[in-house]
Amino acid sequence: MRSLPVWALVALFLPPSFAQHGYTPGDVQDGEGLFIGNCAICHGPEGDAVPGVELARGKFKHASSDEELSQIIKNGIPGTAMPPGNFRGHELTALIAYLRSMSAAPPETVVLGNAARGKAIFEGKGQCLNCHRVSANGSYVGPELSDIGVARRAAQLERSILEPDAEILPENRSFRVVTQNGMEVTGRLFNLDTFTVQMMDSREQLRSFVKKDLKEFGFVKKSPMPSYRGKLSSEEVADVVAYLVTLRGGNRQ
Ligand code: HEC
Ligand code: HEC
Repeated sequence: MRSLPVWALVALFLPPSFAQHGYTPGDVQDGEGLFIGNCAICHGPEGDAVPGVELARGKFKHASSDEELSQIIKNGIPGTAMPPGNFRGHELTALIAYLRSMSAAPPETVVLGNAARGKAIFEGKGQCLNCHRVSANGSYVGPELSDIGVARRAAQLERSILEPDAEILPENRSFRVVTQNGMEVTGRLFNLDTFTVQMMDSREQLRSFVKKDLKEFGFVKKSPMPSYRGKLSSEEVADVVAYLVTLRGGNRQ
């Protein structure tokens, strides 16, 4: 059970009505990415940031069927701040699957520790700044975390620390190239066009390659981030999660 990603757990706990809609864990996972990218900015990662709207409660004021939800996501709610969205087909299915899964998820069991201690671990023992940036500190090897608390639920943050491979957002995937003479470079992809690849390597150097000079190139399935399971105690993980939750972009110094 332990190694299952949260969306797989969600799928196990789905009530029968959800299962009848025929959503797969993959739909839920795709929907999570879309929700984080497009909806969390207003609704918050827990779906409760718009006053009077609780997306995770499983009951909606303006919709009951999936068809009605789909209309809301496509057309917005006229006269309110809920904007129309240019989503189609699978994206709509995935967003609805995720909205339905938010209420089907098992109760939040993530323990939040002490944010000040978490900050000390983040900057010290955890060496998170070697790869991540928060405000003006750190590195660009991994995604910037300055406002990660706006976009992710505590459970997602905990999972990122304990099981980095469990779910990697498309924009966070690492890219790897191998040149004809066997040199291997892994890093963040900036641009991939018909002929060239531009990326940043693990030492934050910009690198550009001509595709025809490469033996191999593609996204890497595994995260370059180490799992902290066993490296940080569960209290320390709880402290770091508590710190990440406070990162909401507003506290830039
Ligand atoms: C610009 C801010 C904003 C964004 C972005 C946004 N929403 Fe909303 N949404 C709102 C507001 C405000 C309401 C409440 C409208 C009202 O009833 O006054 C709302 C209402 C809703 C409702 C109806 C809730 C209910 O109880 O009936 C759903 C469902 C919903 N949003 C889903 C989404 C999804 C899915 C996305 C992303 C694809 C999204 N929203 C993006 C602001 C936003
Ligand atoms: C060796 C580099 C490295 C180190 C050290 C590292 N990370 Fe990461 N981290 C990454 C990379 C690369 C990603 C993007 C791929 C992924 O999601 O796993 C990532 C992803 C994440 C995410 C998910 C971001 C998102 O947008 O959802 C969080 C949260 C995170 N790291 C927190 C931490 C914390 C906390 C520490 C220290 C305890 C840490 N990382 C240490 C490289 C690293």
